[in-house]
Amino acid sequence: MNELVLPRPDDWHLHLRDGPVLRDAVAATAAVFGRALVMPNLKPPITTTEAARAYHDRIRLVAPPGFTPYPALYLTDATTPAEVRRAKASGVVLAAKLYPAGATTHSDAGVTDVRRLAPVFAAMEEVDLVLCLHGEVVDPDVDVFDREAVFLERTGSWLVETFPRLRLVLEHVTTAQGVGFVYSGHDRVAATITPQHLLLDRNDLFVGGLQPHHYCLPVLKRRLHREALLEAAISGSPRFFLGTDSAPHPRHAKESACGCAGCFTAPHALALYAEAFDQAGALARLPDFASGFGADFYGLPRATTQVRLVRRTTSVPQAYPFGSDEVVPLRAGGTVAWQVAPA
Ligand code: NCD
Ligand code: ZN
Repeated sequence: MNELVLPRPDDWHLHLRDGPVLRDAVAATAAVFGRALVMPNLKPPITTTEAARAYHDRIRLVAPPGFTPYPALYLTDATTPAEVRRAKASGVVLAAKLYPAGATTHSDAGVTDVRRLAPVFAAMEEVDLVLCLHGEVVDPDVDVFDREAVFLERTGSWLVETFPRLRLVLEHVTTAQGVGFVYSGHDRVAATITPQHLLLDRNDLFVGGLQPHHYCLPVLKRRLHREALLEAAISGSPRFFLGTDSAPHPRHAKESACGCAGCFTAPHALALYAEAFDQAGALARLPDFASGFGADFYGLPRATTQVRLVRRTTSVPQAYPFGSDEVVPLRAGGTVAWQVAPA
């Protein structure tokens, strides 16, 4: 297959940041994707419906027509059931994001004791607001590569058992245990999968020298985990769908003695997924993964417009403008095997 026409895809896990870089971040995604669930880990984080609505409006102001952002609500120890109800009623907020405090970029205001938020999860279950999980423990005694699996044992299982009607997404799943968690949960448990976790394993952090642009959280895992993710992505199961976790940072913040986590994939994300699916001989499964299952899960109609992917080796620029800075994309200076062409 040298060409694939699919409904315009959506990105169900995206970082757009704010301020002077917002326009560039939005443009990179909106060129291909129609809707996005936008992560709330700003400084300060989006902890109220009012802040989410204002962020939505700021994104819309710089976005091309036809792009719809859905900012998620950032859960803290102080989030109330009333805030959940307000969020649901807004129509703009489709989900709330649980960051264990300290788990990732801008997560210091996150949740310190998940079980104490039970009344909030009960309200989410009642009004059907999706819970997006950054599924990693922050316990310093747990090996960094095991943090997802341990989170699922300690907290994920409790959430699924205690709230059987709660719609729950294990964001950026990275392990075979994560895939197993999704399959063994009730039918409202799903996961997003990033392109980097489908294409890279932990060797790619070190081969040829330390690779800061391959560093994201959850960190890349062993090959066997990558294979489990690929199998899940191409399985045709509606529980697995596209969420790039494209997370732009200025070059200097990545190429540093203490580089931060996040891969910027937005400009070539769909092409990267196409590579992964094609290598697995499963390109025909890409439309549901990229354009169908996520919308179904969030209760939105599938897109009626289309995009066209063609097999064409395309250069990836060394960097993109990012406000007054620049951002280095995944595969900078390399190529991708597919290109999005006019439909
Ligand atoms: C994200 C970011 O930069 O905001 N970084 C990342 O490595 N994925 C945060 C996140 O999604 O964990
Ligand atoms: Zn993210």
